[in-house]
Amino acid sequence: MNQVTVQAPATVANLVCGFDILGLALDEPYDIMELRLLDEPRVIITSKDGFALPSDPALNTAGAPLLAMLEELALTATSDRAGALLQPPGRTGALPLPPGRIGFEVSISKQIKPGSGIGSSAASAAGAVVAANHLLGNIWAKEDLVRFAMFGEKVASGVKHADNVAPGIYGGITLIRSIFPLDIITIPAPTLHVTVVHPQIEVRTADARQILRKQVLLKDAIRQWGNIAGLVAGFIKQDYDLIGRSLEDVIIEPVRSMLIPGFDEVKQQCKAAGALGGGISGSGPSIFMLSRDAAIARNVEKVMQDIYNRIGLDYHTYVTTVNQQGVKII
Ligand code: HSE
Repeated sequence: MNQVTVQAPATVANLVCGFDILGLALDEPYDIMELRLLDEPRVIITSKDGFALPSDPALNTAGAPLLAMLEELALTATSDRAGALLQPPGRTGALPLPPGRIGFEVSISKQIKPGSGIGSSAASAAGAVVAANHLLGNIWAKEDLVRFAMFGEKVASGVKHADNVAPGIYGGITLIRSIFPLDIITIPAPTLHVTVVHPQIEVRTADARQILRKQVLLKDAIRQWGNIAGLVAGFIKQDYDLIGRSLEDVIIEPVRSMLIPGFDEVKQQCKAAGALGGGISGSGPSIFMLSRDAAIARNVEKVMQDIYNRIGLDYHTYVTTVNQQGVKII
């Protein structure tokens, strides 16, 4: 087997109050990626969509994680850890090729528009590392895959963050307690329906990070801690009201929401239509809302559509659910 196709899901990072530490995976939309094993240590990127993403692997969000993997393979093969890496528990047989001769060709069909705020760069990164690991006989654990995938986020936004790639790889809702060292916790939750509206403007994550204040007031930090703890407790206790009360962000949203036309109205009217709550998806401009059932999620979509029709801004909506599997081999 020297070729694999994967489905890499969109993700919602931050979940309103948990900037850089909380995220969830969506059942729709997703990218389709094909990876082929090469017998020379290089990464080739080909794109099957019209997004003109960089074909230089070092500048591509799928390519950078794969280069990091190849580097670690080559280093480990010559170090004391070679035995451990090449013969991990549960692995049978040898690597398909000697470590110094492994490379990948990646072909990407993007459905998740870059700059949309639903984890487009992360889907490429997560899809690439899961597919590569599969071709190598699953020599790395999921946490290692997140470590590699964060190289893609560094390319996209200038900083490593895992709140899109972790849910993309693990599925479900993830808490990233720490990225150095990585400490990822999967959070159980009740059934949640997710409505997303993507107003057709582009917000670059790097820009949306640049505008944030570097310091926060202690009173705001305390309120935010309460909300993060409340949200996680709400998920675990399956307490929809607590989830709704905790979907509040007093630090990031007041700054970033200024970049999104109609934001306050969408939020207020979606809640009036029965959504538990929601806010900016990742760094925007998409806005997401959580609902306890599918009928409410569809009403929320209608509210979003009416608002953007009236404003006269093109948009795309998704009504979906939480993806429990993460990147899927198909
Ligand atoms: N936590 C990141 C941010 C997610 O908000 O900048 C980017 O998708």
